[in-house]
Amino acid sequence: MCGIVAYIGNRNCKDILIGGLKRLEYRGYDSAGIAIMVSKCLKKGSSPDISIEVVKEAGKIKEMEGQAKEVKVDGKCGIGHTRWATHGEPTKINAHPHRDCSGKIAVIHNGIIENFEELKSELKASGHRFISDTDTEVLPHLLEKYYDGDLLLAMQRLMGKIKGSGAIVAMSTDSPGEIVGARITSPLIAGVSRDGNFLASDMPAVLEHTRNFIVINDFETVRLTANKVEIFDKEGKLINREPFKANWSIKNAEKSGYEDFMLKEIFEQPYGVKESMRGRLTNGQLHFDELGLDSEQIKDLKKVQIIACGTSYHAALIGKQVIEKWAKIPVEVDFSSEYRYRDPLVGEGYLFVAITQSGETIDTLAAIREARSRGAKVMAITNVVGSTVARESDSVIYTHAGPEIGVCATKTFTSQIIIMYLMGLYFGKIRGGLGIEDYGKIIDELHMIPNKIQNILNRADELKEIARHTFKHKCFLFLGRIFGLPAALEGALKLKEISYIHAEGYPAGEMKHGPIALTDTRTVVVGIMPEDSVYDKILSNIQEVKARKATIFSIISEGDGSSKKYADYLFEMPRTIEELYGILSIIPLQLYSYYIAKNLGKDVDQPRNLAKSVTVE
Ligand code: F6R
Repeated sequence: MCGIVAYIGNRNCKDILIGGLKRLEYRGYDSAGIAIMVSKCLKKGSSPDISIEVVKEAGKIKEMEGQAKEVKVDGKCGIGHTRWATHGEPTKINAHPHRDCSGKIAVIHNGIIENFEELKSELKASGHRFISDTDTEVLPHLLEKYYDGDLLLAMQRLMGKIKGSGAIVAMSTDSPGEIVGARITSPLIAGVSRDGNFLASDMPAVLEHTRNFIVINDFETVRLTANKVEIFDKEGKLINREPFKANWSIKNAEKSGYEDFMLKEIFEQPYGVKESMRGRLTNGQLHFDELGLDSEQIKDLKKVQIIACGTSYHAALIGKQVIEKWAKIPVEVDFSSEYRYRDPLVGEGYLFVAITQSGETIDTLAAIREARSRGAKVMAITNVVGSTVARESDSVIYTHAGPEIGVCATKTFTSQIIIMYLMGLYFGKIRGGLGIEDYGKIIDELHMIPNKIQNILNRADELKEIARHTFKHKCFLFLGRIFGLPAALEGALKLKEISYIHAEGYPAGEMKHGPIALTDTRTVVVGIMPEDSVYDKILSNIQEVKARKATIFSIISEGDGSSKKYADYLFEMPRTIEELYGILSIIPLQLYSYYIAKNLGKDVDQPRNLAKSVTVE
């Protein structure tokens, strides 16, 4: 949450900062600001007058950009921020950058300073003046207090004083040739290029300028000059860390002709799932050395515990079913935000798996730390190389879906599901839970999944049409059973987050225990009802809601004639095996939610109140 970008080099930085913020807007978009170091020579021969110009505005980046166009702010060193408000409303005054009393220091921050009240009182008592309601504003004042000629040292002192999380970046007119940064939990990376150096929350911010990155780790500080990036450990000792080359390109981070990132990312799924299988599933053989488990360890597994939030949690629910069914290992799935508060058991032979596309979700990170403190070995499944979760886990499986910019997860979800299938299969084969025939059949079906997803995408217009007829309804129920249930939960989550319509995902058989009371002519019931082992059951459930006058939209297997008479709208999926309907059925639901939101005129890439990486509890 919140996006940070900074540049120092030999180019004017205004456009670099604004461009970088636009690519980070998925991290927060309620206000934005930039600060640029400006050097003016007032008299010939005299030393330049150096100041920091700040432009900030409430609302999306384009509001701030409009302001920035009005003022002449040229300089080669600057910092920028796009905010997701935690402390203080999303107003201009609370927008970052924040400054100290003298106006010489400017700071941007992503995270929460938990002891800011206490620090603010102390600083106020010693004469510092505050103007915003934010926790961040204590940071420039602390730097002002600690600065005695070395900005990095002041930052290192500040780190010893604050509690909470943060990626912090600062600059000062007293040290005009440098930008300093620090990291406690919230992500921070340095980008290295011939024309200058960068700091950012995430790689897409600066991918158009460089693909060479260095990850800043927790409790490290960093000093950026135009031609050097220096990283220091907690004790202030210089660390030698070479940059790595990102295999993401700027094309991945652009809309490439699509109306929205969300739509682009939905359409990228055939490629995304192939990438997730690449190297792991070749010619009918599974290779999964990355799991870091040998056959004996897999045979000895007593339990798998999976933790995740939101959409990733729904991928975990599919993982539970396939690992139990194919590998015969009991699987427990927890919300990351609950796990550490429930005194969880971690035993011998347990495998602990964390699923998170961003690798930065604070609840998931906290759950990992809790599990590790109880002796668990942690395996992470994430999309972001070098993310905090990746670094704090014992092994990492990367989903390789490419950068996901739209706030709501689409292609990273289907890639996570693929990893779940591959894990279930791999464990199943080694433990003998799966016969050779079943194993072969599942692998054949998996190979066909990208084409079957493509088949659904080719018929996106059918879903657009159904959305056009139904978008005015006020209540949506998504019903599924077994492998259709995670899809139902995910379908409802997609719809509520981008269209703000009330939607529930529910096990179809549970309807009569309460939610059926919601059903009337104003309700749309979306039934995920492929012809699987529970088909007859869900068909009865659909008839029950049909009898209560709900509008029925059924997602069915190609050629299924029996459900037609109960449905007002239908979408046919290509046929596959029961387990793989879990991945196929989410594609029409993503498109359906997308088109409903578009009919309602919503901003699908940046829905209100949300952010891409949830780095606050
Ligand atoms: C929904 C969505 C969120 C995330 C959740 C977890 O579209 O994106 O529900 O799934 O915030 O995020 P990660 O997977 O990054 O831990």
